[in-house]
Amino acid sequence: MRILEPDSAAVKQAAQALAGGMLVAFPTETVYGLGAAADNTDAIARLYAAKGRPNNHPVIVHLYSADQLDQWATGIPDAAWRLARTLWPGPLTLILPRSSAVSDAVTGGQDSVGLRIPNHPVALALLKEFGRGVAAPSANKFGRLSPTDAEAVAGEFADEVDIVLNGGPCEVGIESTIVDFSQEEPRILRPGMIQAQQIETVAGVQILAAALGRVTSGTRAPGGLPSHYAPRTPLKVVPSDQLTNTLHTLRSQNKKIGVLGFQPPEPGTAWIVAKLDAQHYARHLYANLRKLDQENADLILVEQVPAEPSWEGIADRLQRAAATNVDQQGSK
Ligand code: TXA
Ligand code: MG
Repeated sequence: MRILEPDSAAVKQAAQALAGGMLVAFPTETVYGLGAAADNTDAIARLYAAKGRPNNHPVIVHLYSADQLDQWATGIPDAAWRLARTLWPGPLTLILPRSSAVSDAVTGGQDSVGLRIPNHPVALALLKEFGRGVAAPSANKFGRLSPTDAEAVAGEFADEVDIVLNGGPCEVGIESTIVDFSQEEPRILRPGMIQAQQIETVAGVQILAAALGRVTSGTRAPGGLPSHYAPRTPLKVVPSDQLTNTLHTLRSQNKKIGVLGFQPPEPGTAWIVAKLDAQHYARHLYANLRKLDQENADLILVEQVPAEPSWEGIADRLQRAAATNVDQQGSK
């Protein structure tokens, strides 16, 4: 694995690596993606193997221009076009009926395809240089926290990834909002930092809400499995007014606890004080959870976030992270 500063020579090398069927990790505004040529089934197979991801799970194809949409999707509803034209490049993924050219390797055998134009200069430069679609799930092993900087990517993979383009820390910090237009009624499959309200306003049609932290539609979106986005340490979300009590009870049982909360820290506990600002919170969420994970605590307590639309994507990721280790909580 080579970690490269993303100058034009490095971007060219990365595009050549993609063309040669190799894997390239690159920054987007949400999280780092692990890219493979979307029209190369061997490369996609390598991608699934590197992630340890079951191969019936579809991946998002990344593009640099909405003009490429017709190559990948057909029967695109006007509402989806409006979203594409207004919110791309941006942290939004559209699930659309796939065109006949799209391989089962990308769609997991489904008749729809996930498409996105990321809003990051390095990602856009790479996509343009490569010229074709790049399949890119988040650059983490299956079920783990998404990486939001190049070091976190390097910590996940070894030689199975050829190049990591180092674009510094990601601005948004949690994965894109996913809107599914492949069913009768459009629906948010995964909430993100572009809120449902804005999507509805731009799309001009009613959009069904996401089922927070729960499986939304069978196994269609693995991001919809509750066990996603998890640190290794069990994690529990607690209401603000119970944080201190919960902490004291656990500490009296000799448990080592890490805390991500809004309240001032208590001495003797690995404690990250978060800002009560959804954008800032999301930007640092995964790095904060990684840091707490390294404390080798028995449990990470996360103070509940506000029940407001701007926090919906964050609340969703926290619920999923908490769902993973329910059985082992406090008994590592
Ligand atoms: O922000 C993001 O979306 C990042 C960056 C790298 O673009 N990517 C990302 O990819 O989060 P991934 O693979 O970790 O999550 C994509 C989610 C998965 O839950 C996948 O199942 C779902 O999108 N998805 C992709 N294509 C789909 C389809 N055709 N139908 C339903 N869900 C789909
Ligand atoms: Mg992922």
